[in-house]
Amino acid sequence: MIVVTGGAGFIGSEFVRQWLATESSELVNIDKLTYSGNLENLASVSGNSRHHFVQADIVEQSVIEQLLHERQPRAIVHFAAESHVDRSIHAPADFIQTNICGTFRLLEAVRAWRGTASREFRFVHISTDEVFGSLPLKAAQISEAAAYAPGNPYAASKAAADHLVRAYIRTYDLPAVIVHCCNNYGPFQFPEKLIPLMIARGLAGESMPIYGDGLHERDWLHVSDAARAIGLVLARGRIGESYNIAAGHACSNLQMVCMLCDLLDELRPQSPYRPHRQLITHVAERPGHDRRYALNADKIAQELGWRPQISLREGLRQTVEWYLGNQAWLENVVSGRYRQWIADNYGWRNIRS
Ligand SMILES: NC(=O)c1ccc[n+]([C@@H]2O[C@H](COP(=O)([O-])OP(=O)(O)OC[C@H]3O[C@@H](n4cnc5c(N)ncnc54)[C@H](O)[C@@H]3O)[C@@H](O)[C@H]2O)c1
Repeated sequence: MIVVTGGAGFIGSEFVRQWLATESSELVNIDKLTYSGNLENLASVSGNSRHHFVQADIVEQSVIEQLLHERQPRAIVHFAAESHVDRSIHAPADFIQTNICGTFRLLEAVRAWRGTASREFRFVHISTDEVFGSLPLKAAQISEAAAYAPGNPYAASKAAADHLVRAYIRTYDLPAVIVHCCNNYGPFQFPEKLIPLMIARGLAGESMPIYGDGLHERDWLHVSDAARAIGLVLARGRIGESYNIAAGHACSNLQMVCMLCDLLDELRPQSPYRPHRQLITHVAERPGHDRRYALNADKIAQELGWRPQISLREGLRQTVEWYLGNQAWLENVVSGRYRQWIADNYGWRNIRS
């Protein structure tokens, strides 16, 4: 039995689907179902008797503690977070509450419960490349030992959570491992993030807004490769260590949006919005916008044998095809109807909108 937090979100739901497909043990999925948590992401496993969904806030330490006592998990994989940088710029409070206080409460729940935990217990904390801040354009990729330099409230809240996990490792011998992940993309990503946002806007013939000159560079990893890496870290990562997860598929935001436009042109030959590149507009720069993230993932390759299997070209094509083939999912999310889907399928009425 393992516990996953945030398993109704983008990466968490991919991890849950992979886990149930490849492992034989049970999984308790704790998720508050904020705006980005969507049980429709888990529709394919809704009948799986090894998947136990619990709607709960990680800030509620007593609830989590009780759950740990009842379930006695052999691991916790902690995805739950407020995850969108733009939202953190406009309203940072939720990021402090969930990413910092929530992680703290979760750690305290584990500390209170650990007396009865098995010796194999692992806590895997999901962090981001953003905690290291912006890199110069030509600088070498950074290792896990790089100094923290978060540049926006989201990154700062994730950095604070990392520091808490590190402190619990040293102070309380928490058997934890941290992963720093680069930008993920793939199916079921909430359409506020760059790739699904641009696909959704391109489909609707709406402008595709790019911050500033669009030359900000990100490294893109397919979510299925990311979830597999996290599974390996859970299975064989060394306690107290951090592992970078990155594909080396770097490109600028502008290049990314151009690739998406070209795929939309190809896959939607009848679209009245072709060529989709005409929809690209440049808008005012985002405050505190980091120029470049670039992680070196040699450590996870050497120690755990992980390498990405999906090229950016193939992964992007699959992703655009997925959104084209799942426009009902996209429309449900954009319109907020997925809340009704949850109520209809789970009979719940208490879900926050
Ligand atoms: N998406 C990326 O590219 C990326 C890159 C690096 C790291 N990460 C990290 O990976 C993790 C997952 O990211 P994602 O993109 O899947 O995010 P997401 O926003 O899609 O999902 C977050 C999930 O956490 C849940 N949640 C939020 N607050 C909660 C709370 N207080 N209690 C319980 N559940 C709560 C939400 O309901 C949602 O299901 C996050 O920790 C994020 O910082 C993401």
